[in-house]
Amino acid sequence: MSNLPLDHVAIAVPSLEAAIPTFELLTGGHHSPPVRVDTEGVIVTFVGSGDGRVELLQPTSPDSTIARFLTRRGPGLHHLAYRVDDLEAALSKLATTGIGTVGTAPRTGAHGHRVAFLDPRSTGGVLIELVEAVATPAGRDEPAS
Ligand code: CO
Repeated sequence: MSNLPLDHVAIAVPSLEAAIPTFELLTGGHHSPPVRVDTEGVIVTFVGSGDGRVELLQPTSPDSTIARFLTRRGPGLHHLAYRVDDLEAALSKLATTGIGTVGTAPRTGAHGHRVAFLDPRSTGGVLIELVEAVATPAGRDEPAS
């Protein structure tokens, strides 16, 4: 694990529709078709392209993680995501330093990417997602969850 590229920054919002125009203006990019991830209770869209694009998360049910986050803290930064080549290897290495994961790890995120979330008690209070890079036949990485 070295020089991990930032994959995306995720922001919890009550409404994708209301948030998208602002982030399209800020990034100069368009948003991807929103994807519903029922296992997480969210609808997800990405705005902008390339490293550091913005993931917007809107809850679909009042008992989802994102709904509880919005209730507790209001809209705002939810997590940072770094891209890794080998998720298991990264998690094993982190585990040796006492950095654990939260929830099921690895799990499958939006667009079928394998992801894991690190315990924010080990990472300065910030939720960090690791996304396993998936090379497409064209050799270009797809946006992750
Ligand atoms: Co994410």
